[in-house]
This record gives sequence, structure tokens and C-alpha cells, in this order.
Amino acid sequence: MIVSITGATGNIAYSLAFRVASGELLGKDQPVIINLVDIPEMEAKLEGVKMELDDCAFPLLVKTNTTSKLAEGFKDIDVALLVGSKPRSKGMERADLLKQNGKIFVDQGKALSDNAKRSVKVLVVGNPANTNCLIAMKNAKSLKPENFNAMTRLDHNRALAQLSQKTNTPVQGLSKVAIWGNHSGTMYADLYNATVNGKKALDIIGTEFYQNTFIPIVAQRGAAIINARGASSAASAANAAIDHMRDWVLGSEEWVSMSVPTDGTQYGVPKDLIFSFPCTVSNGQYKIVQGLQHDAFAQEKIKKTTDELLSERKEVEHLL
Ligand code: NAD
Ligand code: LMR
Repeated sequence: MIVSITGATGNIAYSLAFRVASGELLGKDQPVIINLVDIPEMEAKLEGVKMELDDCAFPLLVKTNTTSKLAEGFKDIDVALLVGSKPRSKGMERADLLKQNGKIFVDQGKALSDNAKRSVKVLVVGNPANTNCLIAMKNAKSLKPENFNAMTRLDHNRALAQLSQKTNTPVQGLSKVAIWGNHSGTMYADLYNATVNGKKALDIIGTEFYQNTFIPIVAQRGAAIINARGASSAASAANAAIDHMRDWVLGSEEWVSMSVPTDGTQYGVPKDLIFSFPCTVSNGQYKIVQGLQHDAFAQEKIKKTTDELLSERKEVEHLL
């Protein structure tokens, strides 16, 4: 299978590419070709990343290509990990990046449409990930909306980690955590159906802690990392990209949070957004978990994150 990684000389890619090459993305029996894509100014550095991949002598890595030409980087690919774009710095919101980063996804959508396999699975990581994904999807005229996802798996993993720590329970004992909406401060980290060793999570941690501590910690974790590290999350973001794409390709019965295109029929969310829902995956197809109930608190949260996505979409109407 051919996997393309954009932003391949950046921080996230420096963790991501090596894990793809070692078989953690597509399985320990699946040979891979990796296309490392970055902007022309980064061509020399791309060679350096390729040299290091070569030097790992990964048995599954058939070949590494480097390029700054999208048509080359996306030719016949099975998987696209669209990381390339600017990260925010201290004090910024992710949506503040829309002006600089949004336009990147116009050309990438077109190039995917013209060059990738019709079955390509595209994961947008670059922020603001949901709206960048919408831009790529709308510009990929000959691909289907279902080819496109954005990443909220990092938020999902953060919710698992917080719940694990609060309840002193290994992550394997946790189930049915969900992130709804946008990869931003308005995301709704939902524990209403979550269980801890089969018991209701909310009965264990309590509503007060859930609403006033847990939700804000998960929602603001990206900013907390920027404040502590002086740079945005990188290894944990790469890990989440691996988790998301591996589950999309190989399947997951456990709920996983995926930002997927809306068609107007899912939980009252308007059509043509990229919105995070709890999903399961089989045979390479994700399915949104159906029939969940939302109380007034959840409805308000979902409305807030939906409104934010609608306003981001309005801002980039000219790119769609
Ligand atoms: P970085 O600055 O280290 O690397 C970005 C790379 O993208 C650079 O190599 C740059 O040259 C490249 N790039 C810029 N424009 C490009 C283009 N048109 N085509 C190809 N490559 C291009 O940044 P990073 O830390 O790797 O983060 C990358 C993005 O991922 C940021 O937008 C960041 O906010 C986002 N991010 C998202 C999540 C998430 O959960 N969705 C998590 C962490 C980071
Ligand atoms: C994250 O959630 O860590 C990333 O989206 C980076 C950021 O800007 O917060």
C-alpha cells in the first residue's frame, strides 16, 4: 500500500513516518511505500528524513519517495495523512490558522481527486482540522465525501487518559467514550455512555467533576501542551493519527471518535460539515453509532460546537 504524508519534515511527521514504516499503521504483514511530501524549500530536509528511514532497515518499507509536487506525492495512493500546515502558538485558537492553512487544502483536495486511488482514505491532521478537511473534500470533485476524515482521535485518547487516571483503571477497562463536534475548545467530550470495568463512568467520577473539571481539561489539553512544551503536541498527535487510520483500515468494534462528513441526517447536525461522532468501523467503512440520547447539557454543547463549525465554514466559503 502507498501512504503519503504531507508536512513530512515537520514535528508530527518525524514520529509518524517511522511508525508507518514499522508496520504500526497497516499491520505487521503489510509492505508499504511512503511518499514524503513537503514544500519546495524543504526538499533537502526531506532527503534527510528519507535517509533516516532507510537507516532503520524496516523490513516492511519497500521504498520512500520524496517530493514537493502533489501530483507525484498523491499518485495511486491508498492513504493520505495530511499533516502539512502551520501549528498555532501560545495564545492563539486553532481557528486563527484558517486564513494561512485553509488554502493549502484546496490544491491538496484537487490533487487527491486527480491522482489518488478511488478508495483513498484521507485523514486531515493540520489545523483547524475539521474545516481544512471540508475544504479538501469539496475540492476533490471526483472522490466521495466518505474518503475524507479529520482527526479528533487525539481528543478521544486524551479523554481516555483522564478517565483512566481519575478512576485508577487501565485504559483497557474503559469503553464508549465519545468526542462530538470540532477539534477545538468547543468539542464535547461525552461520558454519558462511558463505562469503567462495566460500571457507568459518571457514577464513579460524579457529574460535578465531569462537567467542571474533566470536560475543560480535555478541551484545553492542546493549549496546555503548547504552554508546557513551547510547541504543539507532536508524538501524541502522530500516535492518534496512527490509531485513527489503523482503525479505519483494519476495523474497530470499540467506539472511536472520528470527524466525518455530515449529510444532514445524523443527530440533527447540518449537512456539509466535518463533525466528530462516536463510530465503529468494519470492512474499511465507518458507521456513526446510532440511537444515543442527549440531555439538555449535551444538546447545548453540541449546538455550540456545531455553531462554531458553521462559522468556520462561512469564513472559507470562497475556498469550497
Ligand atoms: P511543523 O511546523 O513542525 O510542521 C509543519 C510542516 O508542514 C512543515 O514541514 C512545513 O514545511 C509543512 N508544510 C507547510 N505547508 C505545506 C504544504 N502546502 N504542503 C506540504 N507541507 C507543508 O508542525 P507540526 O507540529 O508537525 O503540526 C502540523 C499541523 O498539525 C499543525 O497545523 C498543527 O496545529 C496540527 N495538529 C493537529 C492535531 C490534531 O489533533 N488534529 C494535533 C497536533 C497538531
Ligand atoms: C492539539 O490538540 O494538541 C493540536 O491540535 C495542537 C493545538 O494547536 O492544540
